[in-house]
This record gives sequence, structure tokens and C-alpha cells, in this order.
Amino acid sequence: MEERRERERGDPGVIVRAILLAAGKGTRMKSARPKVLHELCGRSMLWYALAALREAGIDEIVVVTNPELDPEVRALGVRTVVQAEQLGTGHAVRVALEALEPRADGRILVTNGDMPLVRAETLVRVLAAAGEHDISLVTARMPLPSNFGRIVREGERVARIVELRDADDRERAIDEMNAGIYAFPETHLRDVVSKLRNDNAQREYYLTDAIAHAAAAGRHALPVTVETFEEVLGVNDRSELARARAAMNRRICERHMLAGVTIIDPATTYLEPELTIGIDTVIYPGTSISLQSIVGSRCTIGPHARISDARIGDDVSVRESVVVESEIGAGSTVGPFAHVRGHAVLVGDNRVGNFVEIKNSRYERGAKSAHLSYLGDAEIGEESNIGAGTITCNYDGKKKHRTKIGRDVSIGSNTSIVAPRTIGDGALTGAGSVVTKDIEPGGRVAGNPARPLP
Ligand code: UD1
Ligand code: CA
Repeated sequence: MEERRERERGDPGVIVRAILLAAGKGTRMKSARPKVLHELCGRSMLWYALAALREAGIDEIVVVTNPELDPEVRALGVRTVVQAEQLGTGHAVRVALEALEPRADGRILVTNGDMPLVRAETLVRVLAAAGEHDISLVTARMPLPSNFGRIVREGERVARIVELRDADDRERAIDEMNAGIYAFPETHLRDVVSKLRNDNAQREYYLTDAIAHAAAAGRHALPVTVETFEEVLGVNDRSELARARAAMNRRICERHMLAGVTIIDPATTYLEPELTIGIDTVIYPGTSISLQSIVGSRCTIGPHARISDARIGDDVSVRESVVVESEIGAGSTVGPFAHVRGHAVLVGDNRVGNFVEIKNSRYERGAKSAHLSYLGDAEIGEESNIGAGTITCNYDGKKKHRTKIGRDVSIGSNTSIVAPRTIGDGALTGAGSVVTKDIEPGGRVAGNPARPLP
């Protein structure tokens, strides 16, 4: 794997380090949370940026943070450098370089932390273009107006980047933009960053000015153009966040569709990036599947299902239901309107119907509860049937207690089982039973409190 990545990146053996800029306050988010921790499709912008860097085979990543953001990024196990005051992207890179041990033959990739849609292959391309001697940067053609920095070319190369606020009318009309992703030979970067000044409209040290400094020394940068500008759209406010979420969701759905999953309406199917879904599964609208859920083959999921941190076997149907932190074995049907949660395990061929809640319970093969029931802290044996309206009374006001139901048991409608209770194999309860004592295998009880039937 590592070897393959090195080959793609151009130069085997070269040390590539990345500086991920994330210290900006993100004031346009109007949020108490740092911008790069805002989420799309269940992961933070920062998570996507780090994932792309790692997929591109970057050896070492350092994230430039601010004092509030720093503890949260470190908690992810990522190296950080604190930029105490945000004096601009050029200043941020200078702070990072001071923390990185110099390497004369190193390469440095610099990228903004607020671009969650950037693909690893784009990072690989910009690094390959830079090679040993050149600076390269990612550009994109975009419809105007746009707030991006403008690319001023000299022939095939880039002479400088002009920020919108510093641009004249002619420069504002340029539709080739700076994406904010750059690859530098490390010695060039250290050299140009030391030359940055803040004599511009925002009184900031712009990393973008590094391009003009390099050009003045005869080292014009090489542009690497992405085909679709959406990939490099930065997220600066919540409207842009929503747009990026839709694009990311579309991308994730696309990946599963191309791998054999039918998604009836990707726009209303909410998927996260780390799912496994088997072929010929059909996902109906209004469904969300999250965390590291695994869904088998030939399943029917939705409409309106919420599946989170779940494992679902083959040939399962989950309709208008919620399955959280639980397992549904092959051949089972869940819903409509069921709630399976709290480490419940349905072994397989189970049926869970309308208005049934199952918490921290285990259903052996073929066990069923089709209507209006609560099964909490229970074990239900093979082929047992739980009648409509059955409740395991698992909570006595202080403690939770378990219910054990054997195989081939028939629990009558509206039975209350006052836990802890054990019900033997082949037992039966009559409708409306309140079970306050254990039942022997083959026992038949009814009434309140339930007594053996004659
Ligand atoms: C920047 C580029 C612009 C480019 C655009 C692409 C500069 C001067 N301009 O503009 O040419 O078209 O990105 O999205 O670089 N940051 C820090 N410390 C700071 C300032 C910013 O870490 O002191 C971080 C931010 O958290 C953000 C990134 O750098 O992740 C970019 O900063 P931002 O202020 O969003 O730059 P733009 O104005 O979007
Ligand atoms: Ca930005």
C-alpha cells in the first residue's frame, strides 16, 4: 500500500510533510464551535482533510490550530502547532515551519482545513507536479463573482495570486482561482515565507504572496487545474456547509451505487463515509445510515429508516424503523415502526413488527414479536412468539432485571412479565397474564397474578 502511494506521488523515498491550516476563527459560521469541527455527513471538515492527506500517503501532518481548537485536534491523535494570533495564512505557515525540523530535501504540502471535498488524487497530482524543484498549486475555473484569490499567469506558469480585496477590475474578471493547495520544495518555502509582508487590504500575511516572491526569483509556480471547481469550494458559512454536505452525500451515494447498491433517491438518503453495504440492497428515501454500520446484501432499507452503528445481515428488511447499536441477523424483518437499540441481537429469521421496542435483548433464530411490545434485558429462545402488548417489566424503580424465555414459548397478548423471571421451553401464558413467578418447561399459566391452568 505504502509503496503504491509513493509511486503515485512521483518520488519514492522523499519525505513529504503537510501543513493543514485550521487556525482561522471562521467568524462567518457564527458559531461557538471552531469552524473545522463543523460536520457534514457525520464527520468534521477536519476529519475529511486528514483522511485525504493520509490517503495521499503523506508521511507527517501538522495542523495549525488556535488555542480553543488545539485540545480537540490533539485528542484525535494529530500533531498540532498553536498559532496564538491569526495574522494570516502566511503567518500560519511560518509558525508551522518553526515547529518542523528543517529537512533540506523535504517537500511540503500546504492545504486549507476548510475544504472537505478535496480528493487525495488532487493532492497527489500537485505533489507530483512540484517534483524536486518547483512550486505548484491547485487552480480551478469558476463562475464569477467569486471570493477566491485570482491566478495571474505568465504563459503556462503562475506569476502571482491576487486576493479579491486587493484586485483591480481586470484581475477581478479572471475566472481561474487559487484553491488554497500548494506543494513546495521545503527550502523554497522557508525562503519565501520569510519575505512575506502584511501591506495589503486585510493587514494579513498572505501565503499567496509567496508565489510572487518565488516568481521574482525566477521560480514561477506550476498550476494543476481540477476539472470540477466544486471539489475545492471552501466552507466559510453554514450555507456553504450545507452545499458541501449535499455534494459529499452525493459522492458517497455514487460510490455505493457503482458498487451495486440501489439508492432510489440519493438526495434524501443520508450516508456517512465509513459504511459497508452489500450488493442488490435497495435503499428507499428518507433513510440515514451512520457511523460504521454494515448492511448485508439483498436488504430492503427504508423508507424512513435510521440505522446507526448497526450490523445488518443479508436479506433483511428494515422499514420505517430505528436500529441503533444493534445486530439484525439474516432473513429478519423489522418494522414498520420498530425501535431496536442498546446492543440488541436478533440472531436471524426474526420478525419485529409495529411499535415494538427491543433493548439489550437477544432473539434466537425465528423468535418473533410482531406488535406493540417492549422487550428489555430479555433472552428469547428459538421460534418463540411474543404476543401483542407484551411487556418485560425490567425495572423495579432501582435496578434492571433480566427475563429469560425458552424455545417454542407462546406468550399471550398483553402479558406482563415481572422480571427477574425465567420461562421454560414450550411454556404458554394466557392473554392478560401478569407473570410474577418462574414458569416450568411446558407450564401453562393465566390471570393476574398468573397461576397454572388446570
Ligand atoms: C484563502 C486564499 C485564497 C484562496 C482561498 C481558497 C490566502 C491569503 N487566500 O482565502 O487565495 O482562494 O483560501 O479557499 O491564503 N488560517 C489560519 N491562520 C490564519 C488565517 C487562516 O490557520 O491566520 C486558516 C483558516 O483556518 C483556513 C485557511 O487558513 O482553514 C484559509 O483561511 P481563510 O481565511 O478561509 O482564507 P480565504 O479568505 O478563504
Ligand atoms: Ca476559506
